[in-house]
Amino acid sequence: MKRDKISVVGFMGSGKTTIGLLLANFLNYFFYDLDEYIEKKEGKSIKDIFADYGEEHFRNLESFYLKELIEKHNKIVISTGGGIIKREINRKLLKEKTFVVFLDGSFEVFMNRLEGTEEKDKRPLMSLGKDELYNLWISRKPLYEEVATLKINVDSKTPYQIVREILDFY
Ligand code: S3P
Repeated sequence: MKRDKISVVGFMGSGKTTIGLLLANFLNYFFYDLDEYIEKKEGKSIKDIFADYGEEHFRNLESFYLKELIEKHNKIVISTGGGIIKREINRKLLKEKTFVVFLDGSFEVFMNRLEGTEEKDKRPLMSLGKDELYNLWISRKPLYEEVATLKINVDSKTPYQIVREILDFY
């Protein structure tokens, strides 16, 4: 059943992992962070996968493991990586099989959250310039919107407020 599988989508720094984990705890669902799942399965960090095999290979792994998680589990919350919506096949899968929560907000807020933290270093795309990252956000926003079952603006809200808001609609 579609409602038994929740996915969380949004840009880097929007809080997908924090919110997904909290949401899963509230619902007593299993929680998976797709990036962490890929790292565990491949025995390599996302950063090293990008560096050694390139982004295209990472995207192949991302699509493969997203499908695996969705097919294998019920009562699950999956926090995805910010680029999951790049491929149409992923958008279709997310839309058809999961209740999709899009964490919307301001680019500046997302970037400030990652600035100066080790989280920034883990993300290969954070080495792009500010303008390029902003353009990436602008080009991806309609794709997050396209898959969203529910869109939540996360600016100046606590994780608990965000999760309460999600649960009100769920
Ligand atoms: C990416 C976002 C990252 C990670 C990878 C690529 C992207 O996940 O999947 O570095 O393309 O936006 P987060 O959104 O959790 O940072």
